[in-house]
Amino acid sequence: ETVDWDIEDTGKSGYEHYMLKEIHEQPTALRQTLSGRVNEQAGTVELEDLDGLAGREPAGVQLVACGTSYHAALYGARMLREQGIPATATIASEYALERPPVADQLVVGVTQSGETADTLSALRTAAQRGAETVAVTNVVGSTAARECDHALYIRAGPEIGVAATKTFSSQLVTLRLLTEHLTNGTTDGIHDRLATLRALPGALQEVLDETQAPAVAEEYVGADGYFFIGRGYNYPVSLEGALKFKEITYEHAEGFPAGELKHGTLALVTNETPVIATVTGNDEAARKTVGNVKEVEARDAPVIAVTDGQTDVARYADHVLEIPDSHPTTAPILANTQLQLFAYHMANELGRAIDKPRNLAKSVTVE
Ligand code: G6P
Repeated sequence: ETVDWDIEDTGKSGYEHYMLKEIHEQPTALRQTLSGRVNEQAGTVELEDLDGLAGREPAGVQLVACGTSYHAALYGARMLREQGIPATATIASEYALERPPVADQLVVGVTQSGETADTLSALRTAAQRGAETVAVTNVVGSTAARECDHALYIRAGPEIGVAATKTFSSQLVTLRLLTEHLTNGTTDGIHDRLATLRALPGALQEVLDETQAPAVAEEYVGADGYFFIGRGYNYPVSLEGALKFKEITYEHAEGFPAGELKHGTLALVTNETPVIATVTGNDEAARKTVGNVKEVEARDAPVIAVTDGQTDVARYADHVLEIPDSHPTTAPILANTQLQLFAYHMANELGRAIDKPRNLAKSVTVE
């Protein structure tokens, strides 16, 4: 007797798509990313391959990347700057053209595959001009890992879905670890930040267990366009939310800093354009984003708020995707999980080829 099984499905562990499986693997992936690297008692982060860099603050850090990895780079650059290290994030294909000065700079290529041609090219132009380079990558022995002075692994495990999910979360956490490593013991609040990292996999599991994303996605199938807004750390999350949504739903979506809405895109806002606002914490940035939400609500746009409930944004929202309270640097990872699920369930409603979207490749090896 034979059992009827499809080799393609065996890796999906009962999930309908690799993407959904990989979204659900995030708590495990993050535990792997963190494993053995955080010494909470000492308040230090130890990164095996970066020994020579510990506590040695470079004059500046230049992050280069493409696609989803570029969004992770934006988050990393902001975090480095907050810790007092000048840092930029640049799209790799532009960096390679521009060739900014690299004296005393650490140039960090963020690349899941370690094979993206644009990113390799940016790293090579930097290395040729004398920069010290780091590859932040998922793939051991990849070209970026081999060619850079240092390789820092995100340890997310293999990702099959073309749309990056768990590797994005692991990139964010790895860039957090890199920041702590470069500034070891010299910044305030390290114990709090390390404690929230430990709590992150559990909090992410809570999001997965309790998400309302399937029902919310169903409500908004067939809109004219989808706008994703957020400020601060939620700005890269909004870019990533829109990119994920475009990649797998084939619907038009745009992500941008919430403050930019009034500088153009507001002209497109109608009752047929849902606005997905990520609002976490209750600082000035969060409160200003609530102000932007009121502006779109006044123009009859449906509002979906992704929030930890610390502001009153829910009052102006048609739907809420909730996340647990977290640190300002980890909340975006939880919010992004809701956006991944929102995109996934919308694409599923539309019957798209979720794991292999048209025209896209997992890794792009041409410039
Ligand atoms: C392709 C993939 C994206 C990915 C980008 C960068 O476009 O479809 O999901 O973000 O390449 O890939 P990398 O491997 O360098 O992170």
